[in-house]
Amino acid sequence: MDILLKNAQIITLDENDNLIREGSIGIRNNIIDYIGCNKQSHEEVYSKVIDCKGGAVMPGFVNAHNHLAMTMFRNYADDMKLMDWLFTKIFPLEDKLTEDAVYWGSLLAMVEMIKSGTTTFADMYFFMESTARAVSESGMRAVLSRGLQGESGEEDLDYRIRESTELLEKYHNSNNGRIKVMLAPHSVYTCSEAYLRKVAGKSREQGVPVQIHLSETREEVKTCIEKFGRSPVRYLEDLGLLNDKTVAAHCVAVDDSDIEILASRKVNVVHNPGSNMKLASGIAPVAKMLSKGINVCLGTDGASSNNNLDMLEEMRLAAYLQKILADDPTVLPAEMVMKMATLRGAAALGFENAGSIEVGKTADLIVLNTEKAHYYPKYNIISAIVYSGNSSDVEAVIIDGNLVMEGGHLITLDEERIFYKAQKCALKLTGQ
Ligand code: NI
Repeated sequence: MDILLKNAQIITLDENDNLIREGSIGIRNNIIDYIGCNKQSHEEVYSKVIDCKGGAVMPGFVNAHNHLAMTMFRNYADDMKLMDWLFTKIFPLEDKLTEDAVYWGSLLAMVEMIKSGTTTFADMYFFMESTARAVSESGMRAVLSRGLQGESGEEDLDYRIRESTELLEKYHNSNNGRIKVMLAPHSVYTCSEAYLRKVAGKSREQGVPVQIHLSETREEVKTCIEKFGRSPVRYLEDLGLLNDKTVAAHCVAVDDSDIEILASRKVNVVHNPGSNMKLASGIAPVAKMLSKGINVCLGTDGASSNNNLDMLEEMRLAAYLQKILADDPTVLPAEMVMKMATLRGAAALGFENAGSIEVGKTADLIVLNTEKAHYYPKYNIISAIVYSGNSSDVEAVIIDGNLVMEGGHLITLDEERIFYKAQKCALKLTGQ
């Protein structure tokens, strides 16, 4: 569908940070082909025209670290320590997951993400074919990874890596390039050294990037030093798992030498402030990592440790936390945090053609209704969205040139059916 968005305030996040007070964006064959004043937009050549009067258009959010079907465990086990929560509540339930539960759990996550303006996400979980099917139906853009954990025998390890390879062969670059596949060893504390070496080998051999949880807590770091005499970052560096395509979630408990390694390897770091706060993991030194040139982006982590998938909330938490950490309100300003939630996330996940509004780029963008009290008086639109915006302001969502939400209503997904099915699956899983 060819779409024209007119009368919009446009936040481009392009090289020059161009802001257009009132203009149009033309989309043809999934690509942005026009950005400019309303008069010259040639409205007649587009089959669909959306009047955005009173609204703002910005790049869609990129949630760079998530476990979609953990929506199944949302509000099931809260107020617990990470290791307790994982080993006594989450891992036993994950053993009971089914294709069906992951499918409906993923769709539930997608309803929430689209409605709050997310166009792209990275997922690491199980039964990923179910999630791939859900991506195909929803129209979202995604990095999918089969979660890899292994302390067990060789055969078991091979079976999980084989599933990863099958996912890669079947889905990488599928759905018009909307799906990419990565390898996802869970962490240094759930994968043996032999296993991590095997994953590093596969990554090199197949040219597939790796996403992993890294230095999420001080406890993880302490155990790693006791076991291997090195920090998790140094350990992964020695195993050959760090490069400019690696996506490392958290990096909360990193010291200066870890940051040096992450910077020199150009590793992409995903900050998950909501999850880190809820699990009392600590505050990642985001401003410091950014100052060293590290590409830091944003994620929510799974809905069970956040407990929502709202990137607007995540932006605000990220900004606040860094200001507190530095005891300095000038740290991590609104523009930077918005780029972390969009442009920087797209680059981290290898979707370089998305993440900003520029002619020739893929059309992944959202329309926010700014005719609301919390946007008045109107000064700086970026500040307004970051510090005053609500996810319910999102009115329309376009992904890969396709309209997936308009007027606040989902087009590709049946919300009511998804709620019903997800609830049924969740009760079955938890035996309630
Ligand atoms: Ni995670």
